[in-house]
Amino acid sequence: MPSRHPGATEHDYLPAFGRDALLPFYDLLTSVLRVPKVHGQLLDLACLDDDTATLEIGCGTGNLTLMAKRRHPRTEVVGLDPDPLALARATRKAGSLDVRFDRGYGQALPYQAASFDRVLSAFMLHHLAGEAREQTAAEARRVLRPGGALYLVDIGGRVAPSDGYAARRSLRSPHLCDNLGDRIPQLLLGAGFDECVELTHRVGRLIGRITFYRASLT
Ligand SMILES: C[S@@+](CC[C@H](N)C(=O)[O-])C[C@H]1O[C@@H](n2cnc3c(N)ncnc32)[C@H](O)[C@@H]1O
Repeated sequence: MPSRHPGATEHDYLPAFGRDALLPFYDLLTSVLRVPKVHGQLLDLACLDDDTATLEIGCGTGNLTLMAKRRHPRTEVVGLDPDPLALARATRKAGSLDVRFDRGYGQALPYQAASFDRVLSAFMLHHLAGEAREQTAAEARRVLRPGGALYLVDIGGRVAPSDGYAARRSLRSPHLCDNLGDRIPQLLLGAGFDECVELTHRVGRLIGRITFYRASLT
């Protein structure tokens, strides 16, 4: 069974904005925070092509998953999330696009080993606490094929007080402490990835420092 996130009040997972009542505002607020640009940048870095089977863990309302599918209509693209309300929104937005949304948890992925060439994760890792982080990293590794890679972006990395007010708040947030410094590369290397590199980062006034990583298998 998935472990309960200490910040999760209603479920055994922490929903997109912390509670169900805020979900209807998720797409609007994340577009104000320029999250679609971050999604586009993650996809550029992940270099998908028409044969790159791709899974997003923690797809929420589906924005990154749908962007991947629209860019590469012939590729198999799957989004997974534990939140049925978010998945219902994602499915509605997909319309006639041939994209799949599955309900599930990062720490117990319902896929066979070596099923995907890419695993994507955007702003999901800080929703996991304790052993769920290690389990999810190990599961991402398990479902990747040899030569595959996890592309992950989240708030965190080498956050410094000079990054601004939002970054200073990140440094104090209990949800983000496990994302700071080199904790994400350590987590992914500990899960058995052969290499983990910080690809780039952005600093936003409202969101703080977000860092992009690639963890790959040889
Ligand atoms: C901030 S939202 C990000 C959604 C999407 N990736 C994006 O970039 O817009 C975090 C998502 O992680 C999901 N989540 C929480 N716990 C999870 C878990 N154990 N496994 C997978 N996803 C989880 C939440 O339901 C939520 O939809």
